[in-house]
Amino acid sequence: MAISISGLQKRFGQTDVLRGLELEISKGELVALLGPSGSGKTTLLKIIAGLEWPDAGRLDVDGANWLQLAAQDRRIGFVFQNYALFPHMRVRDNLAFGLTVRPRAERPGKAVIAAKVDELLHFLQITHLADRYPAQLSGGQRQRVALGRALAIEPKLLLLDEPFGALDAAIRRDLRRWLRGVHEATGSTTIFVTHDQEEAFELADRVVVMGEGRIEQIGHADAIHDHPASPFVARFMGATVELPVTFVAGRAEGLGLDLVQLARRALPDGTGTLFARPEDIRPVPDSAGPWRIESRISNGAHLRLVLRNTNGAEAEADIPRRTPQADALVPGAVTRLRIDAGALFPAERRAAVATSLQTSLKLESSR
Ligand SMILES: Nc1ncnc2c1ncn2[C@@H]1O[C@H](COP(=O)(O)OP(=O)(O)O)[C@@H](O)[C@H]1O
Ligand SMILES: [Mg+2]
Repeated sequence: MAISISGLQKRFGQTDVLRGLELEISKGELVALLGPSGSGKTTLLKIIAGLEWPDAGRLDVDGANWLQLAAQDRRIGFVFQNYALFPHMRVRDNLAFGLTVRPRAERPGKAVIAAKVDELLHFLQITHLADRYPAQLSGGQRQRVALGRALAIEPKLLLLDEPFGALDAAIRRDLRRWLRGVHEATGSTTIFVTHDQEEAFELADRVVVMGEGRIEQIGHADAIHDHPASPFVARFMGATVELPVTFVAGRAEGLGLDLVQLARRALPDGTGTLFARPEDIRPVPDSAGPWRIESRISNGAHLRLVLRNTNGAEAEADIPRRTPQADALVPGAVTRLRIDAGALFPAERRAAVATSLQTSLKLESSR
């Protein structure tokens, strides 16, 4: 199913939860909605599922207006964070439920349903749980059953709201790979909500980054990582160091910063901010340098350095511990900072910036 969302708005009381979303999802696509808690991801899924209604905007699926359809007429599979299984049914019967309640003409035979359930049990690695009741399962096991139940009906649209949130890391990775395989086998259009970047990027064709009820950026992992469209996305993607800069003829300058790695581009002269990841910041010893190392913490593989410049600005640098320069980078040492990669945004005018800087800056790839 192809989904077209436009101008979608939702308020709860005084809170703008969705502030005018535009999103097109192609048939068969697996899209991840990625954003921090409270950004509106669940509300968007609920509107698509027919469990909430928007205050304004459109939701069209294969050209039909879905805002006129009740939830039960949308033929979707969904798994929400705390989706309840039927407590009085064994796992096996929970998985079969969606198939057994189909109208007689579409209902598969008993043997077909049983085979389908066995296949799902095997997929989910829960064959040993088949005859248990939900109360006899861990939270993670319940979510796997809930996912199996959603998949059992072979939905054309699958909505998953942090379905692996309760599982430990190794099982999450396995299930991610498994879900990707299932998606490719079934071809169902899938929207997967997560606040975990790694999960979103490994799983999805496209990632939609949401923040405070807005879509901040849509793209593939590399583009979002290297070319964040807004300060929000830059911070969310780990560019936690923010330093004041000045733009002069398209080139950024900052106190004690070596920014030649950042390509020149069209920016109006004026002030702005550099967003960089600690691992893209290289302190270079320089007796005239305005940066001074305040602290140095080793985690074995890496050194985390906290530096401050003569204007009081703070930066963090993350460098491999076993490099020749590391010996000189001790508290009290003075340096410049070489910035290997980063995103530049003009000061203020945040809303305008997010749309005008889609191309962001080009970084030299020779690192
Ligand atoms: N039924 C509701 N009533 C009032 N506020 C709500 C309701 N549902 C969600 N919200 C608020 O809407 C915002 C977005 O919530 P949600 O869509 O759950 O975000 P996310 O899934 O990204 O964490 C939050 O501030 C939340 O408190
Ligand atoms: Mg949520």
